[in-house]
Amino acid sequence: MIDLRGITQIYPGPQGPVEALRGIDLHITPGEVFGIIGRSGAGKSSLVRVINLLNRPTRGEVFVAGRDLTLLNDADLRAARRDIGMVFQHFNLLSSRTVFDNAALPLELAGMDKAAIRGRVNPLLELVGLSALADRYPAQISGGQKQRVGIARALASRPKVLLSDEATSALDPETTRSILALLRQVNKELGLTVVLITHQMQVIKQVADRVAVIDAGRIVEQGPVIDVFTRPQQPITKSLIDEIVPQELPASVLDHVRHLSGQLQGGVGQLLRLSYSGERAYQPILSRLIREHGLDLSILHGQIDEIQDQTFGSLAVYASGDGARLQNAIAQLRGEGVVVEEVTTEG
Ligand SMILES: Nc1ncnc2c1ncn2[C@@H]1O[C@H](COP(=O)(O)OP(=O)(O)OP(=O)(O)O)[C@@H](O)[C@H]1O
Ligand SMILES: [Mg+2]
Repeated sequence: MIDLRGITQIYPGPQGPVEALRGIDLHITPGEVFGIIGRSGAGKSSLVRVINLLNRPTRGEVFVAGRDLTLLNDADLRAARRDIGMVFQHFNLLSSRTVFDNAALPLELAGMDKAAIRGRVNPLLELVGLSALADRYPAQISGGQKQRVGIARALASRPKVLLSDEATSALDPETTRSILALLRQVNKELGLTVVLITHQMQVIKQVADRVAVIDAGRIVEQGPVIDVFTRPQQPITKSLIDEIVPQELPASVLDHVRHLSGQLQGGVGQLLRLSYSGERAYQPILSRLIREHGLDLSILHGQIDEIQDQTFGSLAVYASGDGARLQNAIAQLRGEGVVVEEVTTEG
C-alpha cells in the first residue's frame, strides 16, 4: 500500500542543512496497522509528512496505492491525497465550526452537495460516537472527543490510508486507550491501512501489527510487534521497550544470585533469563529443566504480558547442577525458540 524508497529529507537551517531522513526504505502492506516509534527529533513527523507529500523529499520515491506521488502534477496529487487521511496531535479543528461542520469540511472543499454530505458525515459521527454532540463547538467538548472529530474528518473522504502523528500524545492514558481502540476498529471495519507515529511503546503495544524504530533519520529495526518486544536488537529499541518490559533485572535479584552461588556445593550455577512468545508456557519449560536435565531451579523474577492475544514474557531463574547438563538444557531451549540469556552478576 505504501512503499518508500530511498527517502532523504534535508531541511535548510541557519547552521547549515539538517538531514532529518537519511535513506528510508519502508514497505507497509494493505490493511495493517504500522507503528513508527522514535525519540523526539528522530524524524517521525518528517517521515509521515513525506507519505502524503506535505513534505516533498529531497531524494527518493513515495508510492501510495501503486503510484509514485512525487511524479504527479498538482491536480493529480490533490486527488491522490483524498486516499490519505491524517490526524494530528493538536486536532487542528476550526473553532468557529461545529463538530458536524468540522467533520464535513473536506467534503465541502471537494464541492459535494449538502444532502450527500449529511449522508456521509452522519454515519461517521455515529462510528466515532459523537452523534449527540454534532452541534457543539470544539470549545465545548473534551480532548478525546476533539480527536474523534479529527478522525471523522480524516475518514470523510473515504481514504485508503490513515496517518496519525502522535494523535494520542495530548490525551490521558484512558482516553488514549479509547482512541486507539477506535483506530483499531476503523482499521478492521473499513479495511483501512493505518500508519501510527508515536514516542510511546504503550501505543505500539496496544494497536500496531508491525513496528519500525526510527533513530536519527534511519530505520534501525523493524518487525512484528511481538518479535520486537521479545527480541529487541538495538539499544534504542531496548530503551523504548524498557517502560513496558524492564530490560535489566533489579539489583535485589543480582544480590540474591550472589548469595545462591556462594552456597553452591559442587556443580555450576547460572542466572538465566528466559523470554518467549506465543503458545509456550513456562510451566512445562521449568518442569523439564528439573526432570529431564536434573537441574535445581530458583525462580527469582518474572513478568507475563499480552500483545493482541499473544502471550509473551520473561523469567529469571537461577539454575544449578552439572555443567554439561546445564549447557545441554540451554541448547535445547534455544532450539525450541526460547530466548536464553546467560546473565552475569559481576559488578
Ligand atoms: N522545517 C524544518 N526546518 C529545519 N529543520 C527541521 C524542520 N522540521 C524538522 N526539522 C529537524 O529535523 C529533525 C527531525 O524532526 P521531526 O519533526 O521529524 O522529528 P520528530 O521525530 O517528529 O520529533 P518529535 O517527537 O519532537 O515530534 C529535527 O532535528 C528537527 O529539528
Ligand atoms: Mg513530530
